[in-house]
Amino acid sequence: MSTDIFKRQAGEAAVEYIQSGMLVGLGTGTTAIWAVRRIGERLKEGTLKDVVGVPTSLQTEAEARRVGIPLVPTNNIGSREIDVTIDGADEITPQFDLIKGGGGALLREKITAQLSRILIIAADDSKLVPRLCTGWAIPVEVVPFGYRSHKDFFLKLGGIPTLRLDQAGDAYQTDQGNYIYDVRFPPLEDPAALADQLKRRTGVVEHGLFLGMATQVITCGPTGLRHHSPQSR
Ligand code: A5P
Repeated sequence: MSTDIFKRQAGEAAVEYIQSGMLVGLGTGTTAIWAVRRIGERLKEGTLKDVVGVPTSLQTEAEARRVGIPLVPTNNIGSREIDVTIDGADEITPQFDLIKGGGGALLREKITAQLSRILIIAADDSKLVPRLCTGWAIPVEVVPFGYRSHKDFFLKLGGIPTLRLDQAGDAYQTDQGNYIYDVRFPPLEDPAALADQLKRRTGVVEHGLFLGMATQVITCGPTGLRHHSPQSR
């Protein structure tokens, strides 16, 4: 079976946690999209009612509209907590720390995650790693002003930065009009320390380390679906 089937099974399995009346964060990427489609199907079937979605990207917003999920912008949820967010990830540790942002939506995804009571990560099992940065770079979103000046900063932290490009070869722009450096580090011993250093840099808007945010992880691989329990740090 292909990775796409595993992504679909994991994304759809996460929808089992959604109940009628919930406010639901809709993640971004090729796994989260299956959750969005399944929610749309269940609203049409009538097995879910009165679900309202909070999309984490323009791409997800378009798909959610296409499949008929009523939406509310994040600014209009008031002081209400998002009941459940379903999203994907690029790397997942046994402690449920994550790298996200392969699809460029890390900023909106992290804002949505911090508003959510439950963050379910759905992924194919190739995303499971012993430590963050085993095989993936950390996406770091920076404002365009002075973006080149961050390269040396990343190098001094021990990372190798690559500016993300779009298909035309121009700097890739996020939904906020920012740029992304994909910064490759050796496997991280202390992700929290690196997260702090990245966060303190003026011009860095957000980074793709999601530490202590995920509450549930569902993966799918050749041996089927797995609902993981987090290991302590
Ligand atoms: C989007 O910005 C990302 O955080 C995705 O959720 C992550 O890259 C996983 O993507 P896939 O589900 O497409 O592998």
